[in-house]
Amino acid sequence: MKKQAFTVTAALPYANGPLHLGHVAGVYLPADLFVRFLRLKKDDVLFICGSDEHGAAITLRAKKEGISPQEIVDKYHHQIQDAFQRFGISFDIYHRTSSPLHHKVSSDFFNTLHEKNAFTQETSMQYYDESFHQFLADRYITGTCPKCQHPAAYGDQCEKCGSDLSPSDLINPISTLSGSTPILKETSHWYLPMNAHEAWLTEWIQQGKLDGVQQHNPSEWKNQVLGQCMSWINAGLKPRAMTRDLDWGVPVPLPNAAGKVLYVWLDAPIGYISATQAWATQHGKDWRTYWGKTEAVDRKLVHFIGKDNIVFHAIIFPILLKAHGDLILPDNVPAYEFLNLEGDKFSTSRNWAVWLHEYLDAYPNKIDELKYVLTSIAPENKDSEFTWADYQVRVNSELADILGNFVNRTIVLTHKYYEGKVPEAGELTTVELALFEKLHAVESRISTLMYGYKIREAQQEMMNIARLGNKYLADEEPWKKLKTDPERVPTILNTSLQITRELARMAQVFLPQTSHKIYQMLNVASDEWNTVLPLIPAGHTLNPAEILFEKISDELVTEEKAKLTQTTTPKSPYPAMKELIQFDDFTKMDIRLGTVLSARKMENADKLLVLTVDTGIDERTIVSGIAQHYSPEEITGKSVVVLMNLAPRKIRGVESMGMLLMAEDTEGNLSALVSERGFEGGPTIG
Ligand code: 2FM
Ligand code: ZN
Repeated sequence: MKKQAFTVTAALPYANGPLHLGHVAGVYLPADLFVRFLRLKKDDVLFICGSDEHGAAITLRAKKEGISPQEIVDKYHHQIQDAFQRFGISFDIYHRTSSPLHHKVSSDFFNTLHEKNAFTQETSMQYYDESFHQFLADRYITGTCPKCQHPAAYGDQCEKCGSDLSPSDLINPISTLSGSTPILKETSHWYLPMNAHEAWLTEWIQQGKLDGVQQHNPSEWKNQVLGQCMSWINAGLKPRAMTRDLDWGVPVPLPNAAGKVLYVWLDAPIGYISATQAWATQHGKDWRTYWGKTEAVDRKLVHFIGKDNIVFHAIIFPILLKAHGDLILPDNVPAYEFLNLEGDKFSTSRNWAVWLHEYLDAYPNKIDELKYVLTSIAPENKDSEFTWADYQVRVNSELADILGNFVNRTIVLTHKYYEGKVPEAGELTTVELALFEKLHAVESRISTLMYGYKIREAQQEMMNIARLGNKYLADEEPWKKLKTDPERVPTILNTSLQITRELARMAQVFLPQTSHKIYQMLNVASDEWNTVLPLIPAGHTLNPAEILFEKISDELVTEEKAKLTQTTTPKSPYPAMKELIQFDDFTKMDIRLGTVLSARKMENADKLLVLTVDTGIDERTIVSGIAQHYSPEEITGKSVVVLMNLAPRKIRGVESMGMLLMAEDTEGNLSALVSERGFEGGPTIG
């Protein structure tokens, strides 16, 4: 049989902000557990990631923070890399797409495809912002989604209904740079004619065959990945532009392409290849080993991604890889659904997030706790939710009460009864025989689950070892048998220690720090994965017991939840914006300019002025609460904005017909909306 080997990638995060737990649970942690498992199985594996440093995600963030795109990617690349490292995500390399190597690799890749006529050049009219002198693609343009009417869809996607869009699909397009309506202007781009690839893609996705040769087993792919790919293909693939008119990105390496860069979704996945090349150079290897199939090795390319990246990894990148030639296509694309937080979506803009670097700053000794909880709730097949209360329950009643408690009791009792030396087991009863049978089967069960990307279930299997041990101790009660049946006690503790060792062996994947601590207590070097159940010999001396997991307090839960509410309250002194209204609601209002003809203070009312306003169609009385901001003299003669059709209301016995529109500053000062132009030539409808 061919030896199997893996090139595993985790989606390159945009270097435009920190990582939150949604990113971790839905890409990086499962990828890392998978890779740790493969390494233990002694499979040849390379684990690749890096920062995605091009595209509108970066330039728009740079604009928002008022610094250059390079400064943005430098800042967040290092922050993200540091958080991954502290959390123990074991990439072989964490590269970046702004590096000269990546620019060269992606330019060469583009040229290869260009020479093979994989692109078509087309000229079309595209939206252009005249004030910013920029064409508007992707996130540079927003408008109403033609599919679901969401008013804030982007030029590449509607985040509400998930539809893939192009700028020309948007209803009422608006430039996100200037807020103005763009014009249409001619431009020329290189397109990937995805429509020409439908036939082989269908065979490859549905049957796993390429040119009639079996490549992968589609039944191992997640249903949602197969489903999403086929619904794209069935809807008909369209040519897609692979270049952009931008000044940030990899320049298009062709003559007459000044001001054009590669589309970020062309260059980002090539980032996996440039990262491999960087790693191979550092380690004296040939990068092609990791991207090609040979007679001897069945190399599998595996992309861990979030569900919003499926089309790019399961359709577009495979088209590019195949067109390039000599490169393997993905063997699997384990895509994760989304993790929510305390009943709401993670949101960077609303700051509704638990940031990985902040968690690590606050709880540097609770890394395995977070890994365990995030794997327990990993959104493998459907969206799931992180709450601090659930985090507390899982740490306290699973990690501490089951795993920690079992290991602690076993080590403490061995010290107490046998001065820390492993007692010799006597004759095993049917209880121990059944138990060892289960233990022998655990490794292969976990392996099957891990190779099938069922990482959440695999972790449960590891916890079942601790459950088994806890039940065994609870049933056998060695502390009672010390008096009633003392000869059984050495067997019970010896058996418990063997269970502990197997627990440590399996925990190497899921809870590496905990596994290390258990091995230290057992005074045993860590075990390989493929060996049969390793046993600790009688007479071996243990190290002292240590507590594996501190309980999570109610205070921690309360504080963390409070932090969330604090961070969502805007830090600025401005109150939060009110609920959205629809355009129809707005058009019901009749807003006009009027002139204040006279004004007087309302008797016995500090805040009210009684105004007579000429609205052009009538002279009317309006009672307005502006007396502390305007004197009658100041407001008289001013042109003001009047809401005409507000239902009349009696205020202190005076009927007020309409309302003066005001705006309030942070101190609560009101300003009338006063026309700069004055009231010339009749009323104006707003
Ligand atoms: O969605 C994202 O965050 C992208 N930066 C993922 C890129 S994955 C790959 F293609 F590089
Ligand atoms: Zn939509």
